[in-house]
Amino acid sequence: MPLDAIRSSLESIDASASDVSSLGVNAPVGIFDSGLGGLSVLRAVRAALPDEQLIYVADSLYAPYGERDEDFIADRTLAIGEWLIAQGAKALVVACNTATAQSIAQARERLPIPMIGVEPGIKPAALMSQTRVAGVLATAVTLRSARFQALAERHSTDCRFILQPGHGLVQAVERCDIDSPELIELLRSYIQPMLDANADTLVLGCTHYPFLDQAIRSIAGDRLALIDTSVAIARQLERQLDLHGMRAAPSRDAHAPRFCSTNDGRMQQKLVASLLGLDIDVEQVVIASRRTRALESGRA
Ligand code: DGL
Repeated sequence: MPLDAIRSSLESIDASASDVSSLGVNAPVGIFDSGLGGLSVLRAVRAALPDEQLIYVADSLYAPYGERDEDFIADRTLAIGEWLIAQGAKALVVACNTATAQSIAQARERLPIPMIGVEPGIKPAALMSQTRVAGVLATAVTLRSARFQALAERHSTDCRFILQPGHGLVQAVERCDIDSPELIELLRSYIQPMLDANADTLVLGCTHYPFLDQAIRSIAGDRLALIDTSVAIARQLERQLDLHGMRAAPSRDAHAPRFCSTNDGRMQQKLVASLLGLDIDVEQVVIASRRTRALESGRA
């Protein structure tokens, strides 16, 4: 991505902080997503900040969030944030566009550590597109959120965005399907209309979608520039840690992240091995929340 586009996507990423003075610099950074998508962000964070200890939580038992109601997403974001703080996290990356769009504002009111959210790279797409037509693939919840609508409106003056909910794509990545014929056909049904409308840029507005880059290439060739903001998110985390004097001390030992899942973690283990080259067990964790307790007792 050109430097200007990276800079502008950094501006579009959201961050804030409150009292972090009591946490040690070597405390871990928590990263969470509804499932496996946030591993694309974790990969960028590891590359940019190799001295940081990381704890990753995939809420795969309750994915996809894009098919859940708003209260459910807010409830899970808060419960997982609290759980990560209880594990000692000094900062939290909400590596999920859907959770950021839906609930980061509420979570910030309750969680006393810096929080870095993600949002679709609309601004870099508006800067980069030559044809002035860009596609946006994101979950239905993200696309209908007030936060996304305000973002899209700010950049729509001379660029047309074709908004496409990616129904079924998160589920495919969660089962590690990134190239089956069925998946390619589903993706084609989303992308071909963008190509027909002369789009030259595609915003990957969900952290699961970077895992589909090869599949997208097999449909669109090099006709679409893909916008993925994971590197920009890692830079924003770096800036927030610096701002709060929270950067981990340099260390010669490589830190393996701690990987956790609310389901059995088998798919996460597989993706971690293929994406990060790490052969690591995934811990199955129970993170109860108001809505999941209600679900389990049959009340939701
Ligand atoms: N990775 C999440 C995102 O960025 C997926 C949301 C979902 O589970 O639907 O939005």
